Amino acid sequence: MSDELEANSADAHAHSGAGPTPTPEQTTWGVGPWEGPWPEGAGTDPNSPFDVELLENGDTRNVLDHYRYWRMDAIVADLDSRRHKFHVAIENWQHDLNIGSIVRTANAFLAAEVHIIGHRRWNRRGAMVTDRYQHVRHHNTVEEFVEWARTCGLGAGGGALPIIGIDNVEGCQKIETFDMPEACVFLFGQEGPGLSEAALAASEVFLEISQFGSTRSINASAAAAITMHCWVEQHVFGRR
Ligand SMILES: C[S@@+](CC[C@H](N)C(=O)[O-])C[C@H]1O[C@@H](n2cnc3c(N)ncnc32)[C@H](O)[C@@H]1O
Repeated sequence: MSDELEANSADAHAHSGAGPTPTPEQTTWGVGPWEGPWPEGAGTDPNSPFDVELLENGDTRNVLDHYRYWRMDAIVADLDSRRHKFHVAIENWQHDLNIGSIVRTANAFLAAEVHIIGHRRWNRRGAMVTDRYQHVRHHNTVEEFVEWARTCGLGAGGGALPIIGIDNVEGCQKIETFDMPEACVFLFGQEGPGLSEAALAASEVFLEISQFGSTRSINASAAAAITMHCWVEQHVFGRR
């Protein structure tokens, strides 16, 4: 059994509380063993993306139909060939449960990388195994993260990557009307405290997502999803 199949089974077990009942995603999205002659090169050509074990046993992973029966490393290589230029960073001082969900959204919108700042450990449940297809980099401190952004060469013209703080803090601008750089890193704070003092100091601009109700803020993973989609609207669909 592949690692991922194992992870899905473990997840199903945890959900049901009474044995390894398949999750809805496994029964709805999964496919059985490959029927008919195998795709050309499968099992013989090392460059074939197909995984013999999946062809033999079926594929219950949460992947697009296009990637059905592909090896994980082949999927990652394909994603790497067309990743977007935005990065996502989240502070992790309190093992925030939003991180898994943010990783999943970053995978969906094809972020270049997710950066976890603070504790190395984070709760992977919300990621639904998408972290295996997403580059995740750890930084011990905000200072380490800032140094990485300054020297990574991934910003415009091979320069520093601009750090864009996402929070509704004093002096922030509206995300809805802000022209986002194509290459940048969005920095999110944690539930409760929001962006730390160090993270605030590291950001060259702050963006708020406009709200209209009574709550002070939205959930950090919801904020991350909105932010990433704003970038997609601007740089994939050219809506600004
Ligand atoms: C639940 S908020 C907490 C802090 C918030 N500044 C407050 O006053 O309550 C946690 C994180 O979600 C993101 N967030 C939540 N609502 C937001 C909004 N309206 N605009 C931008 N970011 C937001 C930010 O990254 C923030 O650090």
